[in-house]
Amino acid sequence: MSLRIGFIGVGGIASLHIESLKRIDEAEIVSVYDVSPENAANAAERTGAQVMDSAEDVLDPGRIDAVYICTPQFARGNLEELAAKRGIHLFVEKPLGLNVEEVLQKEKAILESGIIHSVGYCLRYLDTVQQAKAYLNGRQAHLIQAYRFGGSHPARWWHQLDMSGGHLVDAVTHQVDMIRYLAGEFQEIEAKFGRVSFDRQQAQGTIYDAGAITFSMEGGTIGSITESCLSVHHSSSDVKLFGPDFFVHLSNNGFTLTIVDENQNETVTSAVEPYFEQSKAFIDAIIRHTQEPVLSSYSDAARTLAVTLAANRSSVEHTALQL
Ligand SMILES: NC(=O)c1ccc[n+]([C@@H]2O[C@H](COP(=O)([O-])OP(=O)(O)OC[C@H]3O[C@@H](n4cnc5c(N)ncnc54)[C@H](O)[C@@H]3O)[C@@H](O)[C@H]2O)c1
Repeated sequence: MSLRIGFIGVGGIASLHIESLKRIDEAEIVSVYDVSPENAANAAERTGAQVMDSAEDVLDPGRIDAVYICTPQFARGNLEELAAKRGIHLFVEKPLGLNVEEVLQKEKAILESGIIHSVGYCLRYLDTVQQAKAYLNGRQAHLIQAYRFGGSHPARWWHQLDMSGGHLVDAVTHQVDMIRYLAGEFQEIEAKFGRVSFDRQQAQGTIYDAGAITFSMEGGTIGSITESCLSVHHSSSDVKLFGPDFFVHLSNNGFTLTIVDENQNETVTSAVEPYFEQSKAFIDAIIRHTQEPVLSSYSDAARTLAVTLAANRSSVEHTALQL
């Protein structure tokens, strides 16, 4: 059985999904659309797909079984609802959007439609993250420390707060999601963001250059996240969980896991390609008619978005916010 796939938005991340899907026998990319004709043509050349005239034209249930929506979060319109209404299975990139109410409306349409849905929180597919999750089952950390430092996305949209949501909403969302996946739900969040260097370097951008976020979780765990997208000499993204008798450290964006307790002090590195595993799970879920292989559903991703948007609001309102 070959599933026919359409792509809407074929920039940086879509290229990686295309390479993964080309290695999956049960998937065939048949339609693409991008506002950039050059990007659409490149994707068509790489896949043999037809370039469609609009995003809506991609969502033709007579032509495709599933769609990958890989436009930036400001440029999704009602595409997810349309896919759901037309019975087209949906993979959509994180973050889900910039407005929780809109995303919850889309969630309702998706759940009511019964389509298979998957969101690009690819790090969940790492064997290291799975191993950490299994270890933490039945163990509660009292402290979580997370951080993500590195560079900025080159696209103009990414530097506009009202288009990307900023580094936390767009990129550090992976670490927020990993915390939720491993340690449960956030309860309260308080954030401060700054623009010290961006104010001097790039007046046309509106995103923050650094953030410091504190939080508590439903089980009582407390933690912090620090982040900067203007750290040219040091890149890292880690999540550390401290328990009374254990220490779990996912470093290198989750690819390296260290677990220390009285019986072990082990470090393992993942050999898994998370984007490939993510697409394999999505295709498998469609073929088997079950959400079970999908590790990040639309509803789950909506909760991660709510945490990051609450952090943004907390910084503007100078107060801690309940989730
Ligand atoms: N899961 C991950 O690890 C990961 C990594 C990178 C990006 N992303 C997410 O993927 C999304 C895209 O990021 P990217 O890095 O590919 O960005 P990008 O700027 O490289 O590509 C975006 C593409 O979408 C196209 N586009 C923009 N508006 C459009 C519209 N209205 N209709 C059709 N096409 C449109 C652009 O022309 C471009 O080709 C973002 O939401 C980003 O957060 C996820």
